[in-house]
Amino acid sequence: MSLIGEAEMVHRKSTRSVPSYSAALLTLGAAAIHFAAAPGHFSEYLPYGIFFILLGAAQVALAVGLIVKPSRRLYALALLGTLAVIGLWLMSRTTGLPIAPRPWRPEEIAFPDFAATLLEAIACVLFACRVRRPSARRRGVVRVVLRTLPAGLFAPLLAFGGVGGALTPMPAAFNAAPFVAGQTSISLVNLVAPDGTQPLKEFTLTASQITVGGHKAWAYNGTVPGPELRVEQGDRVRVTLVNHLPDATSIHWHGINVPDAMDGVAGITQNAVPPGGTFTYEFIADQAGTYWYHSHQDAMNQIPDGLVGSIVVEPKDASKSRIRDYSVLVHAQPGSDAIEVNGTSSLRLDAGPGDTVRLRITNGAVPGLDLSPLTPVLVGAPYVVAALDGHDLNGPQELGPERIPLGMGQRADLMFTMPETGAVRLLGLKRVMFPWNSPSTPVVTIGDGPAPASVNVASLPRFDFTRYGTPAPDAVADAGQYDVTREIILGGGIAFRNGNVDFTDTFSGKTSPNIPPIRVREGQLVRLRVVNRGDHGLHPIHIHGHVFTVLAKNGHPLTGSPVHTDTVLVGPHETWDVAFKADNPGIWMLHCHILEHAAAGMSMTINYDGVSTPFTMGSRSGNVPE
Ligand code: C2O
Ligand code: CU
Repeated sequence: MSLIGEAEMVHRKSTRSVPSYSAALLTLGAAAIHFAAAPGHFSEYLPYGIFFILLGAAQVALAVGLIVKPSRRLYALALLGTLAVIGLWLMSRTTGLPIAPRPWRPEEIAFPDFAATLLEAIACVLFACRVRRPSARRRGVVRVVLRTLPAGLFAPLLAFGGVGGALTPMPAAFNAAPFVAGQTSISLVNLVAPDGTQPLKEFTLTASQITVGGHKAWAYNGTVPGPELRVEQGDRVRVTLVNHLPDATSIHWHGINVPDAMDGVAGITQNAVPPGGTFTYEFIADQAGTYWYHSHQDAMNQIPDGLVGSIVVEPKDASKSRIRDYSVLVHAQPGSDAIEVNGTSSLRLDAGPGDTVRLRITNGAVPGLDLSPLTPVLVGAPYVVAALDGHDLNGPQELGPERIPLGMGQRADLMFTMPETGAVRLLGLKRVMFPWNSPSTPVVTIGDGPAPASVNVASLPRFDFTRYGTPAPDAVADAGQYDVTREIILGGGIAFRNGNVDFTDTFSGKTSPNIPPIRVREGQLVRLRVVNRGDHGLHPIHIHGHVFTVLAKNGHPLTGSPVHTDTVLVGPHETWDVAFKADNPGIWMLHCHILEHAAAGMSMTINYDGVSTPFTMGSRSGNVPE
């Protein structure tokens, strides 16, 4: 062989591309995720399912080609094709695609998206290198193995996460109580307020995006919180929600036992109201008390963004008694770590010496990082805790300054007489975010004159409603026998859920929507035992459409007043027994009111026999109640 011939051979060899095992592995990882995502996409939208299968197949073919017959052209093709896939993905997540179940609507990013795109992006870098330097030298086996090692570890890991996430997508359409052919059931849309001649109180709540203090906020009628709705017991309340937000929304009447179709839970009792849409809620306010309203679509985001407000149902004879009656809603300041009361950090309320004041405190703020409840403290006058969650306590005793624990969603009504001189204050409205950056705490001042001497809030006793007030007969507590019982063990852990690897929060080891509903018939008495064996975690467990009678804490029955609440706060190593009468047919939520926990799985339903819902939760309807 001539020298020239040999040189030619070397040259030819060096122009042949060498395989990039790393790029092939990364591409295979992305293919695995696309295959895993296909079933979910098939049920969502047929063309998507087909696309994912074809894309996965193309990526497998590419990976094989890259190993068996690498060439500069193939690398160039791989680069262009993969960039196109990334581009398509970016478009679907930013502007939306023209071919989609909902055209031109951006989709949410879940972990599998992120994993597949990252794998593809790194592969693109490797493709580009091979396109630029096709004549890379062949290397020994050891060096090839070493060079492939990073991708060999990284690609399977990311693919594992992506495949796990893709195999557990957010359900496309989950129905909490489907209509079953052959069974008699009524749709909950028929469960509305009966006709009648009650005095009508009409309101319109227009939800829109505003700016407060430089932050984006979502507001009812342009304010955070929304307007206080004040009605009288027995009124017919009609509220029209007008949605001017860029997203769908709904309104839930927290604590008011409305007819099921009016409960405002997107995906269970209605479809979320789309941008531009309206929905009219109507119910008879037959229970007096302190309640609040808030979005129940994407509540985890829409509540902190500002979609909250107070609703007070005054007792029938209220106008006769001359009471200074104020609702005091503690809520997040949109876009910041701070909390506010009725939209300000220093609320002033009018009251003169000798006036009787009723302060209706609602905790509508997501707790801080320590998850601890809000602990308002009233200083400057002795007071009674007149009601919890809107329900009066029997024979409440006068108290000095105490911390009154309120989990998110809970309310306490404090009543007191204004002193002859000086103001009364509500302190302790603290939310701990980061130890190095705790936002200032709002203060409520009632009346004029010198402020009361300040107290060391942390050293004060904690109010304990289990031995407060005076015992009285109570139909549910005294029943002693229950038709339906359920134990709910609060827990959690890391798992794949809704397409992500995430912390989950569980009821008896399961996450929504896979928690079997509590099945009841009208008239039954139902007892729940809520158990928190953990060292941390405070879970305000909230029931819709019904009121709990609190039976016992850690096995000890209450010794004071009967206590009726819609939310029971379950702290570490606590067990609470609560019971309710099934007297409001429908499909009702039972969930932790820390909405991150509800969204992470702590949410289930109470299903009445013979009631079905036409609504579904999940990606297809876009109904996401939590
Ligand atoms: Cu205040 Cu289901 O919520
Ligand atoms: Cu919780």
